[in-house]
Amino acid sequence: MKIAIGCDEAAYNLKMILKQHLESKGYEVDDFGAEKGETVLYPDVAYKVADAVAAGKYKKAVLVCGTGLGMCICANKVPGVRAAVCHDQYSAQRSRLSNNAQIICMGERVIGTELAKALLDTWLDCEFSEQSRSQPKVLRINELEQEHIKAAK
Ligand code: RB5
Repeated sequence: MKIAIGCDEAAYNLKMILKQHLESKGYEVDDFGAEKGETVLYPDVAYKVADAVAAGKYKKAVLVCGTGLGMCICANKVPGVRAAVCHDQYSAQRSRLSNNAQIICMGERVIGTELAKALLDTWLDCEFSEQSRSQPKVLRINELEQEHIKAAK
């Protein structure tokens, strides 16, 4: 599976650790920046990654910044995208099984690297089921999103 990854300057180290971790497990990783020493606006990176997910180029992606929050807020502005900040195992599981999140967001200033790797593993291991009781709720998110887009036109 191909996975997209992106960060801002506050989480460059975490991005590189997670990228290596994914590659060591056989994933192909496309890196959307930031580069080493580069200063970026986190919304620009989040948007590029989320847009690629919405376009169907990636089924899963990882976004990291200082807290994970800014990346998550921005990614969720892209229609069709469900991004979740996960700093504990239960949220990592449920963001897949309940919310069918395609993007996991984490904060380098919030959690340690070993926990981040473990959360990413958990998140990737959990598959959403369209037969589950969560499916109508996820479909409802999509419906409301479409209603909002129509009303704004
Ligand atoms: C630094 O720009 C910091 O605000 C950012 O990395 C992130 O934590 C925002 O949510």
